Amino acid sequence: MARIELIGLSKSFGAVAAVKDLSLAIEDGEFVVLVGPSGCGKTTTLRMIAGFEDPSSGDIRIDGRSVNDLEPRDRGLGMVFQTHALFPHKTVAQNIEFGLRMKKMPAVERALRVREVADMVRIAHLLEKMPSQCSGGEAQRVALARTLVTSPSTFLLDEPLSSLDAKLRRELRAECDRLHQALKRTFIYVTHDQEEAMTLADRIIVMRAGEIVQIGSPMEIYSDPVNHFVADFFGSPSMNLIVGEIVQMNGVARFRSSRFELALPRHLRSVKIGPATLGIRPEHVGVTSGEGGDLRLAVRLVEPLGRDTLLYFDPGSERAFVAVSKGLNMADVKVGAPMALSFDPQRLYLFGADGKRIGRGPTQLVD
Ligand SMILES: Nc1ncnc2c1ncn2[C@@H]1O[C@H](COP(=O)(O)OP(=O)(O)OP(=O)(O)O)[C@@H](O)[C@H]1O
Ligand SMILES: [Mg+2]
Repeated sequence: MARIELIGLSKSFGAVAAVKDLSLAIEDGEFVVLVGPSGCGKTTTLRMIAGFEDPSSGDIRIDGRSVNDLEPRDRGLGMVFQTHALFPHKTVAQNIEFGLRMKKMPAVERALRVREVADMVRIAHLLEKMPSQCSGGEAQRVALARTLVTSPSTFLLDEPLSSLDAKLRRELRAECDRLHQALKRTFIYVTHDQEEAMTLADRIIVMRAGEIVQIGSPMEIYSDPVNHFVADFFGSPSMNLIVGEIVQMNGVARFRSSRFELALPRHLRSVKIGPATLGIRPEHVGVTSGEGGDLRLAVRLVEPLGRDTLLYFDPGSERAFVAVSKGLNMADVKVGAPMALSFDPQRLYLFGADGKRIGRGPTQLVD
């Protein structure tokens, strides 16, 4: 059982405010992912929860009890670090059992427990190897086993998969998910990878510059971003964002950029006039080779991904405009040729000059 509360938690390193007044309650058994760009304070937050870093101010409570004065080993948490530093001169088995030795568990019991967790993360065949003889993915599993073995109430995982290639990352991600379901413990997982956050989290905590920007389920974060930053951070390829302004013409609100103009759908007509950014996700842009559409752009690049094909268009700005081809005859797509793009009016987003979302389509969640 572990419900973790952070109350007004702050940490400064000299002049650097790494974490600023963070408040958050993590429920028992929840899988929470802290996500955000490099340097936003994810590791510092996790280290404060674990007890390796003293907060400058604020309170950390586990099951209602303040743990600020407790040593890391007395908090009942298990942390897997960003770099998985295994003892190089100990075998895999000795690495895993280290925490149990510290707790003075008898040898027979230790061996059984090591075997049990090794089976759990599928490394039983590696127990007699040295860390240097393990692949990156295997070493990562050993690091996970080393934490698992102590049976913590909460797992604190700091980018545990960041050193692995994409395929292994996906495999081990599934492993983390499976472990969470099997163990029913609280997991706090740190990553800067939005895809990892989306696939693993019950709840995502988006951080930026030491602060929480948004908290929500993966689908809420994806379809209901509070600002330009969250909209841009989640989704691959990213949301298309077009800088422009909202104007009124003949009583109708329109979005106008240097390249095109769009009459805003009814649900967005009450937005304020002024500078704005229009957002639309690649999967909500229709593409045809015919006439019409909201915008005509030339195809710059065709990227087949197997199931879908991504089409990159030249919008005359730094970032290409991206659409997912759906039901499009690829024989009609020619690099350099203009195509008609139309935006699903239900799925448009508008962000104000300060980046805050000022409007979006009425669809609550993406299907
Ligand atoms: N021990 C330290 N001394 C001084 N500054 C630090 C220390 N640890 C972290 N910082 C600073 O605090 C800020 C947050 O760092 P932190 O390691 O928490 O970021 P992060 O979100 O984990 O980033 P990354 O994704 O790169 O791991 C950064 O500006 C960093 O330079
Ligand atoms: Mg970090």
